[in-house]
Amino acid sequence: MAFAVVCTRALVGVAAPLVQVEIHLANGLPQFNMVGLPDTEVRESRERVRAALVNCGFQFPPRRVTVNLAPADLPKQSSRFDLPIAIGILAASGQINDRTLHLHEFAGELALSGTLRPVRGALPMAVAAGKDGRKFVLPWDCAQQGALARSTEVYGARHLMEVCLHLSGEQPLSPVRVETETRHDQSYPDMADVRGQLRARRALEIAAAGGHHVLMKGPPGTGKSMLAGRFPGICPPLDEQEAMEVAAIQSASEENFSTTQWGCRPFRQPHHAATVAALAGGGARSAPGEASLAHGGILHLDEMTEFTRSALEALREPLETGVISVSRAARKVTYPARFQLVGTMNPCPCGFLGHPSGQCHCSPQQVARYLNRISGPLLDRIDLVLEVPAVSLWEARQSQDGEPSARVRERVVLAVQRQKERQEQTNARVPVAALLRHAVLEQCSQDLLSRAANRFSLSARAVHRILRVARTVADLRGDERVRMTDLAEAISYRGWACSDG
Ligand SMILES: Nc1ncnc2c1ncn2[C@@H]1O[C@H](COP(=O)(O)OP(=O)(O)OP(=O)(O)O)[C@@H](O)[C@H]1O
Ligand SMILES: [Mg+2]
Repeated sequence: MAFAVVCTRALVGVAAPLVQVEIHLANGLPQFNMVGLPDTEVRESRERVRAALVNCGFQFPPRRVTVNLAPADLPKQSSRFDLPIAIGILAASGQINDRTLHLHEFAGELALSGTLRPVRGALPMAVAAGKDGRKFVLPWDCAQQGALARSTEVYGARHLMEVCLHLSGEQPLSPVRVETETRHDQSYPDMADVRGQLRARRALEIAAAGGHHVLMKGPPGTGKSMLAGRFPGICPPLDEQEAMEVAAIQSASEENFSTTQWGCRPFRQPHHAATVAALAGGGARSAPGEASLAHGGILHLDEMTEFTRSALEALREPLETGVISVSRAARKVTYPARFQLVGTMNPCPCGFLGHPSGQCHCSPQQVARYLNRISGPLLDRIDLVLEVPAVSLWEARQSQDGEPSARVRERVVLAVQRQKERQEQTNARVPVAALLRHAVLEQCSQDLLSRAANRFSLSARAVHRILRVARTVADLRGDERVRMTDLAEAISYRGWACSDG
């Protein structure tokens, strides 16, 4: 038979749709044609495959070789199709035993010598193969990543010959096993280093406990970046499902993902010169952007007002829905992007507005223009907005060391446990209907909330977000009831946003 089909996977965002590599050998002048929307990288695989087969002692069939990558309307990128194409040609020309071919899927880049090089997306591809009941053969260097998909057997091969011997049954590869243990020992700087700033510390504790977004505003040198950098240290550990989602995105990204990072909460700090594509994803290789790489973790935007308006506006969608959609010429790619935003900014262009030294000379128009860099709709999505005021050197010396991160984290973990037992999700993510059921307000609290809503012209979204924060404050206290003081504290983190923004 001069025909073979080999299964592999494309990578669209973090999804890995099935691609069937069909190989047909026909009589006629020797030719090698590839159809099915291959991009340049895939078309180049012709030369790699030809050289690899010859260098492994096989014959490249002196016939008319047609390779079809189906479905034809799905764009194919990257060199991951080298291995399935090589295996398909060997099977179609009868040079390998293909009895078990239909039980496997393959992906990998071939060196001219036949050595296999790693490809990105090993984990999402292996997960998808497992769902279709097939085993996955990957280059050794990314097989550990693939093996995180517990649902299927993943084999790691260093060379094309190893794959051939595995298929013929002469030297079967053993499935790759990988140990995963959620890590708790990530080393972040300690909250204990921060002097004073009790209100900011409290807000960060609430944010960590409920998964809320935070924005800190204050003069230079008050500890905003310092606090933000210590935030991951007080966040709860990832659960299994979160760790899996995080690993799948990192595996699909351009970053070098190692299985030792399993369970680490992402903490991304993009520079303020980041472009929309760098933040949102897409670009030529449709790789996930910073917002997706922060999925399940924290996106820290330091000097938030310095980001371009279009870059910040691109975050509006994921802040609300937890996904980010990037439209490209041919299709729309959706990436998961449920991150927690931690932003920092100065109050005005010179940075000293409200500073006790009174050294700010910015005009009201300059201040307004500066604050307008963060749009109303974006501000509306941020649950906790607070001032981080200047602390004098004397005050800083006087105040004692802050509470260590480990102690804060203990309280946060308890509060998260409470939320998961009650509603399976954190307060920031629970659907509105469930939130209203679990955050029932007494009459006096309802009055307070409607007064605040009128006074600050709060949107329905802002009201719900206040309720979510109030629910978290109650959870930190270990109380199933939301009291008026909880609500008042939640509203206090909105006041600045409403009056200035
Ligand atoms: N509350 C504080 N406790 C201890 N050290 C502090 C505090 N605030 C500032 N510092 C010291 O000042 C340095 C600068 O702080 P940081 O970078 O966090 O300021 P910032 O508020 O982000 O300023 P900017 O607005 O200029 O970015 C810190 O590295 C730390 O040494
Ligand atoms: Mg800073």
